[in-house]
Amino acid sequence: RTVAVILAGGTGTRLGLGIPKQLLKIAGKPIIEHTLAVFEAAPEIDEIVVLMATGHVPDAQRIVADAGFRKVTKVIEGGETRNDTTRIALDAVGEGDVNILFHDAVRPLVSARIVRECVNALWTYSAVDVAIPSADTIIQVDADDCITDIPVRSRLRRGQTPQAFRSGTIREAYRRAEGDPDFAATDDCGVVLRYLPGTPIKVIDGSDENIKVTHPVDVHLADKLFQLAAAQAPRLTDHRSYAEELTGRTIVVFGG
Ligand code: CTP
Repeated sequence: RTVAVILAGGTGTRLGLGIPKQLLKIAGKPIIEHTLAVFEAAPEIDEIVVLMATGHVPDAQRIVADAGFRKVTKVIEGGETRNDTTRIALDAVGEGDVNILFHDAVRPLVSARIVRECVNALWTYSAVDVAIPSADTIIQVDADDCITDIPVRSRLRRGQTPQAFRSGTIREAYRRAEGDPDFAATDDCGVVLRYLPGTPIKVIDGSDENIKVTHPVDVHLADKLFQLAAAQAPRLTDHRSYAEELTGRTIVVFGG
């Protein structure tokens, strides 16, 4: 069984809209609806759990109901930090051996290819990350904004999501983290790296489109990327998926 956990517990202070950014409409739909649609359509995903920002669970429930997402089994409140939200998700998923993919609700342009490769990698690895090379040089600075290091760019990647795990691995990493008063992490692979050292964490290729809507410019960028995607996939594609759903087999449409 493979469960997708959609992390939507944040409020988007950097975007500063007054509503959580995952509820912002881009290309006619709330960002989180685009995100959910990818996982709903992915054959590798059996179940979706949504962790929503405090006070907005009903908004997310309405989006799920209106869109008719049948894989969504739970919509619950997230935690104070992203890692708290992950912890709540682990409890919500329950015991038993499952594959879990954690994905930022605000990365609506994640592709079916990325989801598939994450799930496939879990046959070999118990932890999987998604990343892209960095076009920019990454510099490390100290508290006074002076450079302390410039790591070799070819070895650096920019982390995206999903991050995928066998449940035993991520549970054990968080269990160990609980006893650490200095616990600090922003992502889930970081928790495995720190508390289960030695665990190989496979990195699969993300994509430039899989942006995290963070700053105002990202809203324009995401909007443009959806326009491009719509132009590349003419209406026929939608008809084809619909027809496939009806007939249960692959239909080839010339020029589609
Ligand atoms: N997230 C979460 N629970 C939190 C904080 C963040 O589930 N307590 C989720 C966000 O909803 C988002 C993803 O983690 O989908 C990535 O986080 P980020 O871009 O930092 O989102 P926000 O915390 O909403 O933004 P900001 O940092 O600007 O407040």
